[in-house]
Amino acid sequence: MIIDLRSDTVTQPTPGMKQAMMDAKVGDDVFGEDPTVNLLQQKAAEMFGMEAGLYCSSGTQTNQIAISVHTRPGDEVICSELAHVYLYEGGGIAQNSGASVRLLQGDRGRITAADVLKNINADDAHYPKTTLVCVENTMNKGGGAIYDMDELRRISELCRSRGLKFHCDGARIFNALIATGVSPAEFGSLFDSISICLSKGLGAPVGSVLVGNRDFIYRAHRRRKNFGGGMRQAGFIAAAGLFALENHVERLNDDHRRARTIGEALMKLDWIKGCYPIETNIVIAEMVEGIKAADAMNALAGLGIKCFTFGEDKLRMVTHIDFTDEHLQTFQDVIAQTSQSKITETVSSRIAGMY
Ligand SMILES: Cc1ncc(COP(=O)(O)O)c(C=O)c1O
Repeated sequence: MIIDLRSDTVTQPTPGMKQAMMDAKVGDDVFGEDPTVNLLQQKAAEMFGMEAGLYCSSGTQTNQIAISVHTRPGDEVICSELAHVYLYEGGGIAQNSGASVRLLQGDRGRITAADVLKNINADDAHYPKTTLVCVENTMNKGGGAIYDMDELRRISELCRSRGLKFHCDGARIFNALIATGVSPAEFGSLFDSISICLSKGLGAPVGSVLVGNRDFIYRAHRRRKNFGGGMRQAGFIAAAGLFALENHVERLNDDHRRARTIGEALMKLDWIKGCYPIETNIVIAEMVEGIKAADAMNALAGLGIKCFTFGEDKLRMVTHIDFTDEHLQTFQDVIAQTSQSKITETVSSRIAGMY
């Protein structure tokens, strides 16, 4: 049995989801005529108390569109130094929006209103104009960390009082909402725009929805066009997203429970120094001194457990819809047999095998 914990993006559509895709009513979405895309956009917007939504091919596209609509070249975006929009979107903020970025340290990627306040540039021609604050919830590089709603409220109020826009990279927003019991509408009331991924924990094969007010989405739609993001009979994939919103939200609790059990199993090992607090479906484990994360990852791969490194000394494991209790049991059985010396042995034999 191969256990794939590299990401919550590795999932297969469920039989119900496939059926919904087969049954989808479609039309040309570039003409605005795909009923399933329209329904998905409307549903996502309504859930978050927003006026409109825009279906896009990826979370990178929804984030990059949002940033380019909210800013003008020469502006500055405030975000965490661990933010996906900064680290993992190919320098898109600079390339697509011509904006500079002010990076804040934060606590596992969660920034505060006090820090934002200190980093808003004065209205002076020497400085880039601060126009946008981006947060990520949950915070991927922070180990699925969830923002405190009171802190988000403070950042939101600050943005409003200073005329800044407030965007949320909600690639895993439903993980945060399910874990805290906060409603999407309450969450949405704090933001000018939210990017919602359907292809992470929700288990759809593709797609993200950007939500915001009507004027913002009108401009985002124009931007999506010149990013080459207009899709035609996209209802086939949008149907999977709709199915996911209707059927795969509550079950995220199972992913969170399994992630906690993974953390407990890892903490018993002599090659693991510790784990970040496990709040949702992401586990980040730190290696003891002398063990390289890449070596541990390769040793685990040899035992049928796939995961990713996060820097030189950390591994990331992500639970998802295709990681069941049976997989969890196998994971626990296999991982319990690993040890610092076994990982070192695997490395030596791999090196020996190279010659
Ligand atoms: C926090 C976060 N934001 C955005 C994205 C981008 O999503 P996509 O891969 O659909 O472009 C990811 C992808 O894993 C992510 O983890």
